[in-house]
Amino acid sequence: MTLQFRSAALLAALLCTVANAVTAQESRPLWSGRFDVEPSKALLAWGASFSFDRRLFEDDVLGSLAWAEALTRAGVLTADESTAITRGLNSILESGRANPAFLAGPDEDIHSFVERVLIERIGDPGRRLHTGRSRNDQVAVDMRLYVRRRIPDMQRSLLTVVDALVAQAGAAGDAPMPSYTHVRRAQPVLVAHYLLAHAHALRRDIDRLDLVRQEADAMPLGAGAIAGTNYAVDTEFLAQRLGFSRVVRNSIDATSDRDYVSSFLHATALAMVHLSRLAEDVVLFTGEEFGFFVLSDAVATGSSLMPQKKNPDPMELVRGKAGRSIGHLTAWLSIMKGLPSGYNKDLQEDKEGLFDAEDTLMGSAGAAATVVRTLALDRTRTTRGASGFLLSTDVADYLVSKGVAFRTAHEVVGAMVRELLRQGKEFEQLTPADWKRFHPQFGDDVMKVVTAQASVRLKKTPQSTNPDAVKAQLGELSRWATDRRAALR
Ligand code: ARG
Repeated sequence: MTLQFRSAALLAALLCTVANAVTAQESRPLWSGRFDVEPSKALLAWGASFSFDRRLFEDDVLGSLAWAEALTRAGVLTADESTAITRGLNSILESGRANPAFLAGPDEDIHSFVERVLIERIGDPGRRLHTGRSRNDQVAVDMRLYVRRRIPDMQRSLLTVVDALVAQAGAAGDAPMPSYTHVRRAQPVLVAHYLLAHAHALRRDIDRLDLVRQEADAMPLGAGAIAGTNYAVDTEFLAQRLGFSRVVRNSIDATSDRDYVSSFLHATALAMVHLSRLAEDVVLFTGEEFGFFVLSDAVATGSSLMPQKKNPDPMELVRGKAGRSIGHLTAWLSIMKGLPSGYNKDLQEDKEGLFDAEDTLMGSAGAAATVVRTLALDRTRTTRGASGFLLSTDVADYLVSKGVAFRTAHEVVGAMVRELLRQGKEFEQLTPADWKRFHPQFGDDVMKVVTAQASVRLKKTPQSTNPDAVKAQLGELSRWATDRRAALR
């Protein structure tokens, strides 16, 4: 009995010493108990993620607050411990919110930081918070919370580009411009129609981000390191408390699934591809060769050498930055493809790419919105560009309206173009007699067809560049944008 008591007291004293030692050497990793030798400082520093995962601070604390509550409900924490932990975590949240510089220290990651500061602030109860939890399910919940909370801001910034395009489309009215296939003049379209095409792509990006949000919307806590946890925590409560609509069903999957990261990187890469294509158009169409729009001085840059230069740097950068977003997606998929099941440290590589993809998208959307908003349309240039041989299809369709087979009409007009190119003439210069020489079905009214205005009016389908269809399209898109903006507020 005495012996038993003695050894129990000894054990308690020993444990106390260990605990004090751990508290004293705060910079030691959370897991140092098992090791005889200090870890290599250089390798620890190299593997640490605190320099970038501090961005998960709020999510980590909110996740811990919910976890503490779940532990309390499961009877693992006493009411007093629970109150102390909750107070401690809330005070940490306040400190971090008040001063970003507070997020500093020798810690391995944000999870270690929060736990260390908690123990420093409240003592022993803080040492109970990690019961039944692993950083594997903790980082999973943090990342899911982060992705869910950041997406609306990203959608808002894409929406500003849509707004700028819609505003320009509205201001362009019925102004025509050439459309291009193979970068060769194809058919006249309304400037508004052209601008809205870019808006539709960005609208899909905004909707796609909703899907990513839904994918991230599953609560992984309760998975522990991989096998689940020995404490009967109410995972439905945790999900509801953290705003998730469902719980991940399998603890192995919960700790190793990063599909929502892949989808996030795909959604951002694709949005960047769309911004890049818009950027490329703006670079081309504001240049001397096209001159369809004038770039505002406020968004252009000059040359250190050539005095005449007015360069579209911001849009070139948007185009260039699409490359890094695509890089993040391909890097991430290459990391994932070889991973054995369960948590692997490689998964830590999800963060820098994801954060950078987010920043890249936000910055690029902001730049694109400013540039598009300040473009000035040169109607004379776009109208002039929309005349000439790009009306050939309408000329062929004129013959079709007189009963000629389309294939025949195509050949007749093709031969006309060849002949007129040889003579250095355009449709507009032909007399009624000239037209008739090419085909007897050409009447005097053919001249009315060969204008850009007539060409767009002849379009009959709802997705066409017919001014009425474009007006309807513009209305629908701006109503959608208004609803979206209200929903994101
Ligand atoms: N920094 C780590 C990450 O981002 C946190 C999880 C660490 N888990 C572990 N078993 N080492 O993935």
